[in-house]
Amino acid sequence: MDAFLIKGPSRLSGTLRASGAKNAALPAMAAALLTDAPVTLEEVPDLADVDTMTRLLEGMGVLVATPAPSRRIVDASRVTSTEAPYDLVRTMRASILVLGPLVARFGEARVSLPGGCAIGVRPVDLHLRALEALGARIAVEKGYIHAHVSRVGRGTGRLTGTTIRFPSPTVTGTENVLFAATLARGTTVIENAAREPEVEDVALLLTRMGARVTGAGTPTITVEGVERLSGTGPSPHTIVPDRIEAGTYLAAGAITGGDVTVSRARARDLGAFLDALRRAGAGVETTEDGVRVFASRPLEGVDIETAPHPGFPTDLQAQFLALMTQAKGTSRLVETIFENRFLHAVELARLGADVRVEGRTALVRGPSKLEGAPVTASDLRASAALVLAGLVARGETLVRRIYHLDRGYAAMDQRLRSLGASVERIDG
Ligand code: UD1
Repeated sequence: MDAFLIKGPSRLSGTLRASGAKNAALPAMAAALLTDAPVTLEEVPDLADVDTMTRLLEGMGVLVATPAPSRRIVDASRVTSTEAPYDLVRTMRASILVLGPLVARFGEARVSLPGGCAIGVRPVDLHLRALEALGARIAVEKGYIHAHVSRVGRGTGRLTGTTIRFPSPTVTGTENVLFAATLARGTTVIENAAREPEVEDVALLLTRMGARVTGAGTPTITVEGVERLSGTGPSPHTIVPDRIEAGTYLAAGAITGGDVTVSRARARDLGAFLDALRRAGAGVETTEDGVRVFASRPLEGVDIETAPHPGFPTDLQAQFLALMTQAKGTSRLVETIFENRFLHAVELARLGADVRVEGRTALVRGPSKLEGAPVTASDLRASAALVLAGLVARGETLVRRIYHLDRGYAAMDQRLRSLGASVERIDG
């Protein structure tokens, strides 16, 4: 199994270009199921999760072409199956994103129920209740979600627009309803919708395809259903830059006392995170084409609490915790989104970090002198935190099970090397 061997400490400096966002590329690929015309996407990141989504779509008879490394043409003109099998769904929870499009276009879907994962239970009850409200009949049998829309007359069953109010914002839940509503009869209003930039990006793509969507990026999204959607036409839809990848490399700049610029990163998507970096004493600058983070004064501990966008993203909590091990004083990190998202704390402690976890709160005391050791990655973002710590730890840190990292970071070893880190991918 692949591992990263990191020799530290190092000081990172240089410029990287942000990849397209994983969490926008996956729903964009699923959106192509809504139409029989080709959907062309640009800035699709080279990630294991994108390969998994490709396999999932291909299993349904969808053609996915790669005419250039970051370009995909997704052609769902000949869908032969409306099933998402357990073997693929269990490796990638985002597979649930095919549910809304399949029900909307074909009036039926059979999607394996995603299980829990390392960071928590992660139910999809809100997705299912919303689709029911739109008129789908949902049954869960033998681990599969069966969704069906009754026909009226000939043809496939069609969903009916309604008002859906989420009790709390859900990102993929909002996207699934958005997909379903584009082809529904009448108007759908999504209240308390997720406001993440990736939701906005997906809405932009749907609009390109002929959907009538307003309010994406705000808590209320309105969708006027149309009879059919088209493809993207001659020019592709460009996936929004990955704010989590950008934030991770900016944190790498800060933790190593270096100077890192991520071009194409959008400061407005990273507001709460950049604000926390500033409060911690890092230099933060918005450049013409991105964001720069550099050492300015010794880091100081700051408190953060994760929250739905525009709050501090849960997907950057682990990386920020790693950073706080190098800050003076005590930092209090509260995780409000997922119930078990401090698995990295125990591993960071093996490198010498002083972290105490009590329920949904982590208390970090720093600065700690970290020493290299073997550590094991538990999930995608936790793995990134271990790599960040490895960059400042003295000696060799072996981060095991980096298949988690490959799900969400393209060529992380190469990219860190380009900034001056000593990172090797080995079999370990
Ligand atoms: C998405 C992101 C993930 C990020 C998360 C939170 C993708 C592919 N993944 O995941 O990287 O960590 O947003 O920003 O975009 N919940 C329910 N019932 C549901 C749905 C969600 O109880 O039906 C709960 C979850 O358990 C969690 C919270 O709502 O506590 C937020 O989850 P949600 O926003 O849905 O996360 P994902 O869309 O799975």
